[in-house]
This record gives sequence, structure tokens and C-alpha cells, in this order.
Amino acid sequence: MTRIRVPGDKSISHRALMLAALGRGTSRVRGILQSADIEATARVLRALGATIPPLDASELVIEGVGLRGLQPPSVPLDCANSGTTARLVAGIVAGAGFDAEFVGDASLSRRPMGRVAAPLRAMGIEVTRPEHGGLPMRLHRGSVQGVTWRPAVASAQVKSAVLLAGLVGNVPVEVQEPVPTRDHTERMLQARGVDLRVEGDTVSLLPAARLDAADVDVPGDPSSAAFIAGLAALGALRREVRIENVDVNPWRVGGFRALRRMGALLRYEDEALQGGEPVATVVCGPGALQGISIAPEEVPSLIDELPLLAVVAARAAGETRVTGAAELRVKESDRIAAVVSGLRAVGVYAEELPDGFVVRGSDRPLTGRVVTHGDHRIAMAFGVLGAVPGNAITVDDPSCCAVSWPSFWDDLQRLTHD
Ligand code: S3P
Repeated sequence: MTRIRVPGDKSISHRALMLAALGRGTSRVRGILQSADIEATARVLRALGATIPPLDASELVIEGVGLRGLQPPSVPLDCANSGTTARLVAGIVAGAGFDAEFVGDASLSRRPMGRVAAPLRAMGIEVTRPEHGGLPMRLHRGSVQGVTWRPAVASAQVKSAVLLAGLVGNVPVEVQEPVPTRDHTERMLQARGVDLRVEGDTVSLLPAARLDAADVDVPGDPSSAAFIAGLAALGALRREVRIENVDVNPWRVGGFRALRRMGALLRYEDEALQGGEPVATVVCGPGALQGISIAPEEVPSLIDELPLLAVVAARAAGETRVTGAAELRVKESDRIAAVVSGLRAVGVYAEELPDGFVVRGSDRPLTGRVVTHGDHRIAMAFGVLGAVPGNAITVDDPSCCAVSWPSFWDDLQRLTHD
């Protein structure tokens, strides 16, 4: 039995920094993800006047500036590759009423920002951005008013932006989600004393005089753990693996459920609650894999895991079909196109759908070179497929894993050669 811990959860790490910066008093954050995306959030918060220490400590001690204590930035806010940074901080900046410009790398600059600009405009903030819809985006000085927002797409980033705009701007907000999405922002705000209620598909936040400081132990990222679970499911480890202290929030673990449905061994042990988030040891091993259908309503709970599920499908009997996942086209790359062309490049039958893909599994040896488009999850998914005995797969840009898991290739090597 092999044991491993995966890096801290990316979604929770972003939020832990933001909420510590906005809190009153001292927050301690342990086990934060040390990666390029979280560095982007730290940099942007520092540009807004927060004191965020270097991230390379096992415990970060953050003195919050309070809900009204941020400063207007004197430089553009560089979000690099991180959509979560750009969209959530846009909510914070709108609430603070600052003039600020958001910039990012080429990939982030192409990603849709209209979904966050629209609710912020409805709250009374002027937002200007390029015609193609991405970055640079400028928020103009103003003051927010309350809103009831019904996002057209299911997005935890958009929901969180509206909640943070209401929190910092001291106005009531309500978000009615088309399909439920990850609820880390809600859990973390409630734990910090905010009057936030969830009823059915509606999240409402009432103005708060202050945000309490809180300590966070960041659990392992289920989206990173999914790569290890996939590796075990594909039989690349020859034995069971125990992935310790993984976040198993129900809105995050659709990928684990899908692997189990495909026939992989996957079970939780040592289940516990850690700072309001359910965590567990995820035990995984190989099984007789079969293709499955993934339905639109499951998609938000496994959106980041779809590249990994696609490579597992390449080794499963029969066909795997994913629909209702058009959002994949606007992630760090067009993940429908990247997954399908990557699979074809190594000899797998795969087909694009407008909102998903079809993969036909086989047990032929798979060889070839995959173009990642600088997308960390594409690189790691094909890294996993390449680690299956008999396959020989290279990726054009292994270093893009730094966005969410800088030591991925070393960890993969260690696990598969143990
Ligand atoms: C995230 C939400 C999801 C997810 C992303 C992280 C978050 O994006 O894909 O990796 O931390 O809120 P959307 O809100 O665009 O669905």
C-alpha cells in the first residue's frame, strides 16, 4: 500500500488568502498550495494593500486589514493564468469601489469575463473590457448596490465574486444558481461570522460589519488527487494507493464518483470534518474499467477532472460520452479540443461534441506527443496515461503543471518507480 499527500486545495487556498486579508485580526493558514495560481492571488492582494507573507512556509500568519482596509492599487492587477484570482478579486475590488485594471497571461486574457462584469455592472460599477471579452478589464471607481443575480452559467467563481462584492461593499446580495457549484466561499464566510444563508438554489448574504479572522488547515485538492486515483485505476501503480487528507466536499467529488462508476476501486476512510470541509483518505486501486456517460447535471462537480476522466476512458471497455460541458472550452485552454486532439495524437479514437466529447477505449499501446496548450490539467492527464506500462507519451510543455502542482512530475516518477 502506497501513501501520498497531494498539494493543498487550490480553490480553498485562494479563498483562505482573500478572507484572511479581509478579516479582522490574525488568521493562520496551514498547508496552503504553493503554486503559480496562488502566487497570483498573493501578489494581487499585496497590490491592494494586504500584508501577505511569502507562501513557502508551513504556516502563514496573516494580519487582516479588515473589510474596509484595502487600498486602491497603483499597478495593474496581474492575475497570470488564474481565472479564480481575476474573477473573485474583481468582486472584492468592485465592493471596495476602487479603480483597477486586471491583466493576465495570453490564456487568461482570452477567457470570458462578461460573466463577472455583468453582475458587477448590475451592482452599479462601470466595467470596461476588450471586445473579445477577456482582459485587460478595468473596474471604475464607484459604490455598489445590492443585487439578486441569476448567472447564465453554473460558476462558483461568479457566485463568489457577487458574494465578495456584497461583503466588501456592505450591501445584501443573492445568487440563484442554475446548477449547484462548489460551496467553499459559503462555508468559509459562515465560519467567519457572516450572515449567509443557503435555501434551495439561492445563496443570500446580508451586510456584515466585520469579518472574523479564522485559521485554516487547507485539505488536499481532490482535483489533484484525481490524477493519482486515475493512475491507480489504470493499474499503473500495481497496488492500492492511499491519498491522505483529501477534501471530499460533495460538490467537488464527481470525478471520484465517475471513476467508481467506471469500475475502479475507490473508497473513503478516516472521514472527518476539518474547518467546515469534509476530508477523507481516498483509497484507490485498479478495476475492470468500462466506459460511462457523464450527464450535464454532474458536470460542475467534475469539471476540472474531465481531462483525467478522458484518459481513463481511453483504457476503458466501450465508449465514454460527456455532454453538457461546453464550459470546458473556456478553461485554461479549450479542453474539449485539447483532450480530443491529444488522445488522437497517441492513437485513441476520440470525437469532439459541441459541449463534450466521446472516447472509445482500447488496450493498444499508446504512443505520441501531446500539445498541452500551456494547460496544467492537460499536461497532467497525459502524464498519467503515459505512466501506464506499455505507453510512451510525451507532452510539449511539462512545466505548465506549476499552476496547480509544481512537483507533479517528480511525484509521478516516485510513485510509479517505488
Ligand atoms: C473554481 C471554480 C471552477 C473551477 C476552477 C476553480 C473556484 O470554475 O473550474 O478551477 O475556485 O471557484 P468556474 O467557476 O468557471 O466553473
